[in-house]
Amino acid sequence: MQQRKLGANGPLVSAQGLGCMGMSISYGEPNDQESIATIHRALELGVNLLVTSDAYGNGVNEELIGRALKGRRANALIATKFGNLGLAGVTIPGLSGGHPDYVPQACDASLKRLGVDVIDIYGLHRVDATVPIEETVGAMTRLVEAGKVRYLALSEAGPQTIRRAQNVHPIVAVETEYSLWSRDVEAVVLPTCRELGIGFMAYAPLGRGFLTATIKSLDVLLPKDRRRDHPRFSPDNIGRNAELLAPIEKIAAENKCIPAQVALAWVHAQGEDVIPIPGTKRRSYLEANAAALDIRLAREEIATLTEAFPFGITAGTRYPEKQMKAVGI
Ligand SMILES: NC(=O)c1ccc[n+]([C@@H]2O[C@H](COP(=O)([O-])OP(=O)(O)OC[C@H]3O[C@@H](n4cnc5c(N)ncnc54)[C@H](OP(=O)(O)O)[C@@H]3O)[C@@H](O)[C@H]2O)c1
Repeated sequence: MQQRKLGANGPLVSAQGLGCMGMSISYGEPNDQESIATIHRALELGVNLLVTSDAYGNGVNEELIGRALKGRRANALIATKFGNLGLAGVTIPGLSGGHPDYVPQACDASLKRLGVDVIDIYGLHRVDATVPIEETVGAMTRLVEAGKVRYLALSEAGPQTIRRAQNVHPIVAVETEYSLWSRDVEAVVLPTCRELGIGFMAYAPLGRGFLTATIKSLDVLLPKDRRRDHPRFSPDNIGRNAELLAPIEKIAAENKCIPAQVALAWVHAQGEDVIPIPGTKRRSYLEANAAALDIRLAREEIATLTEAFPFGITAGTRYPEKQMKAVGI
């Protein structure tokens, strides 16, 4: 697996990471044994960037990664996050997700669950609108100084927040949704990262599985699958969105690969500073996704895909209304 420098001053990371969220929540049934085998296979393939959050199952996903990394810590870069109390389903009396008194508490709990002495990349999962970003990043900086965290990141932050955070402490990456059907970061967020030398971790690069062309109707999702709450997967929108998949499927067929690999190849084509972090709990998908780096689409094919998914073409917002209010702050 190729390696890339994350941002101007960050660590070397695999050109593609592994998103671990779906191993514990949101998509289908968890299968810890296969998930741990998937993490081990990722490390064997050189996919060393493992992305999680304390919010995924309120610590369950971090514990799973801790178990998977026993005896293998040195081969992995752990990127975890804090501050998304809504997703974690917790309230902390008197404190909010970005409160400077909460930050060290969250970090200590993550270190314990992960079973490590230091977190490689520690990110603010959602910007806390009630706390100036300088105070949250100030508390994160103290974690770096204490040796508990190596690098700092932000998730779903708006451009002004990114600038203000960078003034307090170097930020190595912004983690935000980016894929063919979610291209809004191209307007301001990605250019801001580029201007400031900040890397970009593209989450949900497979459109939460939709761009793999394996979810064209709700019938394939379990009743409790969280995508059922997402507007793009609503009964009204999923069929309209499925009509967008034809160019991906055509290019996949012409290149003797699968749509997931085409979707990832398009993200890779956006620049070496963009590190997609596709999620899976299965070795077979992981291997297919890692192989996407070997697929060389022609410039015309990338252009065809870009033109087929202009901004705004996707039916439905990328989160339900309430969660949309928490992004881009
Ligand atoms: N910062 C944030 O706010 C935020 C938000 C969301 C996600 N994330 C991070 O980003 C990571 C990736 O995003 P995501 O998991 O939401 O979406 P994604 O990577 O776009 O898609 C994951 C889905 O695609 C399926 N899949 C993966 N590879 C496949 C293949 N080759 N063929 C067919 N299906 C395939 C997975 O199936 P299986 O589950 O069956 O393996 C899963 O259902 C997450 O794990 C998480 O770490 C961050």
